[in-house]
Amino acid sequence: MVVRYIDVETLEHETPMLAVGIFEGTETPTGLLAIIDKEIDGAILRVLSSEDFKGESGEELLLYGSEDGGIRRILLLGLGQPEKLDSESVRRTAGRAVRVAERMRLGSLSISLDAFSNIDDTSKAQAAAEGAVLAGWKFSELKTDVSMGSTDLTTVDILGLNKAVGVSKAVEAGAKIGDAVNFARALQCRPGNIATPAHLAKEAEKMAAQVGLDITVFDERQMLDEGMHAILAVSRGSEEEARLIVMKHNGTDDGEPPLVLVGKGLTFDAGGISLKPPKGMEDMKFDMSGGAAVMGAMKAIADLGLPANVVGIVPTSENLPSGNALKPGDVIDTLAGKTVEVINTDAEGRLILADALCYGARLNPAAMVDCATLTGAVVIALGHQTAAVLGNQKDLIDELVGAGKSSGERCWPLPLWDVYREQLTSDTADLRNVGGRPAGSITAAMFLSEFVGDTPWAHLDIAGTAYGDGKLPYQRKGGYGFPTRMLIHWVRSRAG
Ligand code: BES
Ligand code: MN
Ligand code: ZN
Repeated sequence: MVVRYIDVETLEHETPMLAVGIFEGTETPTGLLAIIDKEIDGAILRVLSSEDFKGESGEELLLYGSEDGGIRRILLLGLGQPEKLDSESVRRTAGRAVRVAERMRLGSLSISLDAFSNIDDTSKAQAAAEGAVLAGWKFSELKTDVSMGSTDLTTVDILGLNKAVGVSKAVEAGAKIGDAVNFARALQCRPGNIATPAHLAKEAEKMAAQVGLDITVFDERQMLDEGMHAILAVSRGSEEEARLIVMKHNGTDDGEPPLVLVGKGLTFDAGGISLKPPKGMEDMKFDMSGGAAVMGAMKAIADLGLPANVVGIVPTSENLPSGNALKPGDVIDTLAGKTVEVINTDAEGRLILADALCYGARLNPAAMVDCATLTGAVVIALGHQTAAVLGNQKDLIDELVGAGKSSGERCWPLPLWDVYREQLTSDTADLRNVGGRPAGSITAAMFLSEFVGDTPWAHLDIAGTAYGDGKLPYQRKGGYGFPTRMLIHWVRSRAG
């Protein structure tokens, strides 16, 4: 999909449909809407004076424009109350417009930025482009019927009424970010038999060549040489070889300490010998969502040329039962040198992350952030709307909460207090890999914290937010790419 910014002074623009947001209680058309209303003999004013359309959030009304070119359809989208509007509302509104265009099988669509008067020009331009690109994407590569394929919508024009500087660049940035999220979503949606660790590594290499990232991929031999015994322990039950993917963006001076992003890339989590129940196990193809988000974020960071040094690390393996698999009670070694008693082989994410975080910490980062579909407990704590953020530095946690607000991907802190540490005490090793049912997301993060040294670090538990039924207008059932946008916003705020 091509997304362009177009400055409209007068109404020379031609489009099969123009989507315009309307606040609740709007009585007369203003700005771009007033110009259009003149062309269609005051039809919009008549709508606003009627009771048929009140501008409530979620309301939709379609009007027809002139026969002879120009604006053929005008889609009025209710925005609700202005005070509640933020850049996420713009993203959703763009998504709603795309959904309507899709239903009508339109090839192109225009979205007006004019209505979102309380949001700054570049934020709304970027959010509109993101919403359009995200909504237009569909995972159809495994359908043989081509009519099930991608939508007919190939062009989206974002219309603005002012020549504000940077708006066109913001649309471009939003489109690049949207593309990066869609890249992550495709990886998420691919089933475990296709998206193997080797596949993720190959996709990372292809992407790195495209956008200009340095990349190193460790295979199992090289991981053994490094001493990454925790990743290798998880991978033992699988025929597929594990990988550690390391992507580097050199955006500023060589000496500048990097920001490190780490993502769990478990391509299928059957639980290992501590086998999961069959119901819903197919969703465990999404257990590489954190890794996909880090790959997506690295793509956008390079594409946007952000002035920061950033390293993306993805440990990737399968977790399967076999005669060779890790067993409950086994004690394993880790890259950090700490020994771990594996009580439950289904708590594998923290094991592969232990080695990846230790590897990341050795790069002396300015800050390190990991994201992982780590615990079912986070779904109980925060549901499907909010990820948990835990870490060892309050400022970093605040930055991520803020980045999530701008990106429309919420996260909220859980405490990482020492009082929880005793739940990880082991009789035989330095620590055990599970802390029991109480505070499951906290003890999981507590486990990770043992492997970051004194690096400023935060962990996002995305088990409830990475994929789902596709409730928002710009989502679909499947992977959401969460928290690709948050990571990009965070790196950008650090770089700026
Ligand atoms: N990948 C799962 C966590 C998960 C659960 C992701 C639900 C997405 C949806 C993780 O590896 C896991 O199995 N965690 C266990 C930990 C337990 C054994 C301490 C869990 O949450 O049940
Ligand atoms: Mn598991
Ligand atoms: Zn897992």
